[in-house]
Amino acid sequence: MRGNLDDGQRLYAANCASCHGPQGEGKEGPQLHNQVLLKNATDRYLVETVRRGRRGTSMPPFATAGPAHRQLSDQEIETIVTFMRNLEVKS
Ligand code: HEC
Repeated sequence: MRGNLDDGQRLYAANCASCHGPQGEGKEGPQLHNQVLLKNATDRYLVETVRRGRRGTSMPPFATAGPAHRQLSDQEIETIVTFMRNLEVKS
């Protein structure tokens, strides 16, 4: 997965940390530094989950702007996935 880690951290902090915790430890949203998730999920699965969100939950679809979030480009989402992959190494 391409993308600069510092950019990924910044985008993650601005768009995801409120629900998933600053280090992916989970809050309202589930843990993202979960080793089982990170081991089994493909990059495509993670990107698509962020693009589409999870209908019926508070996980919003970032491919389009919503009342509480801005739209993220595919490049930005890939950069965030790069940051999530780094959580895998650290935790
Ligand atoms: C308003 C709260 C909220 C925000 C903001 C949010 N999420 Fe979520 N997220 C959730 C919830 C709640 C779930 C669990 C959905 C479910 O039960 O299926 C989730 C699920 C996920 C999953 C799936 C985890 C799995 O086990 O399959 C991923 C990946 C994810 N979020 C990444 C992100 C990323 C990256 C961002 C920022 C771009 C983000 N989320 C922003 C609330 C949020």
